[in-house]
Amino acid sequence: MGEEFSLEHRFQAYIDAENKIEPKDWMPENYRKTIVRQMSQHAHSEVVGMLPEANWITRAPSLRSKLILLAKVQDEGGHGLYLYSAAETLGVSREQMIDDLLQGKAKYSSIFNYPTLNWADMGAIGWLVDGAAIANQVMLCRTSYGPYARAMVRICKEESFHQRQGYEIMMHMAAGTPEQKAMAQDALNRWWWPALMMFGPADAASPNTAQSMAWKIKRKTNDELRQEFVDKTVPQATFIGLTVPDSHLKWNEVTGHYDFGPIDWEEFTQVVKGNGPCNKERLAARNKAHQEGQWVRDAATAFAKKQQARAAAPVSATNPSAA
Ligand code: 3HC
Repeated sequence: MGEEFSLEHRFQAYIDAENKIEPKDWMPENYRKTIVRQMSQHAHSEVVGMLPEANWITRAPSLRSKLILLAKVQDEGGHGLYLYSAAETLGVSREQMIDDLLQGKAKYSSIFNYPTLNWADMGAIGWLVDGAAIANQVMLCRTSYGPYARAMVRICKEESFHQRQGYEIMMHMAAGTPEQKAMAQDALNRWWWPALMMFGPADAASPNTAQSMAWKIKRKTNDELRQEFVDKTVPQATFIGLTVPDSHLKWNEVTGHYDFGPIDWEEFTQVVKGNGPCNKERLAARNKAHQEGQWVRDAATAFAKKQQARAAAPVSATNPSAA
């Protein structure tokens, strides 16, 4: 007990001095669990997040927009892979994490349980969802767990490109025909509140924030990041002639921030519990892809086994290729 106490003290002091924790360092069991929980949820979000956008690849309005969307969806798959790899450094297997997702035991971001109804939604997702993801993830480049922080550097660069891709779509649609502008406004109306929910519960209701801040896993709280996102995004909406769907939204001279209306936390809770508009569809799609990819995993495993057997075989004059 005494030894554990002093180890915990040294761990905290090491973090307070802005050192990174590496996979083989001693860490409190709860730190390990929190990092695995957050990284695996994050990885799942990237992978499930491919679904609503992949839905529009075949219907992109031009070759240029199709290529960009394809690249973006591939980037998200890559982000999932870095994050699963980073989580594996803490002893949890990728198979286990994916199994938890497929069985509906693991969380992923609430935002991906909303439907993408038309092309304007590709704009709204890039602008708002990737925009919110950047707000949250730039701080994660300085998170205390080394492999997570390093994975986030490239992820953030790619997310910035995604945000620009989305804003460009919204800009064009908002400056287009009255019908196109109405589509852009409708997409903003539908994605605004779910985007604010992405940052997680209010600080007062967040069970994990205080400890994660102390361990420098999180560098800013859910509410701080949500406010930053609102302050940054409202002028972007105004610039392209769209209106944020919040009658309470008002610049506050005293605080130097926008005041905004109440978030529907009951909707958030329902979506996180599995009762959002697309939760079942998303899990069914992931399960189907996993089953259909079984032959690829089998072939890769068989190949790896063959390579191992070759490497282990004794070298002989009649079998020189075994070297
Ligand atoms: N959707 C689903 N669950 C959420 C959530 C959301 N938007 N926000 C919070 N939760 C969950 C938490 O995971 C936690 O559940 P658990 O304790 O059972 O694991 C619970 O609600 C309480 O929330 P807390 O605020 O106390 O939890 P955290 O301290 O973990 O903070 C978080 C939540 C801010 C989302 C944090 O986990 C985080 O920063 N995660 C990394 C970033 C991430 O996962 N982003 C996903 C979004 S999008 C994306 O990555 C794809 C991109 O390409 C667009």
